[in-house]
Amino acid sequence: MSVFTLSLNGLTAAEFMAEYWQKKPLLIRGALPGFQGFLSPEELAGLACEASVPSRLIQCDPARANQGSGWTVKHGPFEDEDFNALPPDHWTLLVQGVNHVLPEAQALLSAFNFIPTARLDDVMVSYAPSGGGVGPHVDSYDVFLLQGAGTRRWRISQQTDRTWIPDAPLRLLAQFETEQEWLLEPGDMLYLPPHVAHWGIAEDDACMTYSIGFRAPAARELAIEFLEACRQEGWPDALYQDPDQPAVSDACEVSEAMASNVAQLLNQLLWSPEQLGPFLAKYLSEPKAYVVFEPPRRPVKKPQWLQQACQRGVVLDLQAQILRWQTRYYLNGEAIDVPAEAQTMLNRLANQRTLSAEDMSHPAAQRLHDWLYQQYQSGVCHLAETA
Ligand code: SIN
Ligand code: CO
Repeated sequence: MSVFTLSLNGLTAAEFMAEYWQKKPLLIRGALPGFQGFLSPEELAGLACEASVPSRLIQCDPARANQGSGWTVKHGPFEDEDFNALPPDHWTLLVQGVNHVLPEAQALLSAFNFIPTARLDDVMVSYAPSGGGVGPHVDSYDVFLLQGAGTRRWRISQQTDRTWIPDAPLRLLAQFETEQEWLLEPGDMLYLPPHVAHWGIAEDDACMTYSIGFRAPAARELAIEFLEACRQEGWPDALYQDPDQPAVSDACEVSEAMASNVAQLLNQLLWSPEQLGPFLAKYLSEPKAYVVFEPPRRPVKKPQWLQQACQRGVVLDLQAQILRWQTRYYLNGEAIDVPAEAQTMLNRLANQRTLSAEDMSHPAAQRLHDWLYQQYQSGVCHLAETA
């Protein structure tokens, strides 16, 4: 398995976060020197034929690129014929969630582990022949656009004009005022914070771009989900109190005092980090809707499995996610119940997604054995490949 070591223009991860993250774009030449990607266009097309892997084909008629009807978007899964019917240029195939199916993509994500896992979304890989791209647009999320094989010209703009091309099947900017542009070659990477307009066009027939994308849950979504979690957990269980309520002559009124009393009650009880923290770890570790874990067809018995696990080590399934709040751990949206002594190993598993043979024999990991075997039975944890 490759280990990807990023270089950030000589910046430390701490400097990058302080100066650029969520603030301004950064072009990084040679972010991964020698990187050529780990998928051929044919392999990417193969992934796009799988029902469990979200994919899109976007095509543009260059003569009508500024009209909505000049663009088409099709969603996968695709069949070979879909690709055979394509013109030689001006289209792109985008495959989402590649880290859920390829260990190499997961290893690439690990190079970004100076950013909390809870903020990571996925690795998307695109292929485009010459002239292909998704058009000029704006994203709401941070992204690192890493060039694999081939070359892509990126143009960016801090413009505030958000006039979209009418009736297009995707949100495309009608006007694009290029402020900076670069030709990215293999291993080069462009970091973009949210809302910077960008436009990438393949300059040859080999262009593969790896997008390391982040997520930022919307306040409304978090509020709704948190309140739902409150309902399920039965908190807060306090009741409205009003020992200072004076006698009233207009009994039908809900008074301002009553409203601020409620605000105080809810503010104190609902939005405290002590309650939001575990909710976030639980909620953000939930898998995406399309994720399915496949239990082993013929599971081996526990003693045999443990013997092999202690010889080979274990790996977390590519689709699984563990997040921690203080000393509470959550796997795929469920609280993990393991003894306190096991937590150092659980933390290692959360961050490295693997426990080596040596780790597995450590007394702390022994406290995890029963739990790991259950995860193996559910398809959430596997034996590591033998070297
Ligand atoms: C791509 O075409 O690979 C990147 C899409 C984007 O601009 O977000
Ligand atoms: Co974009």
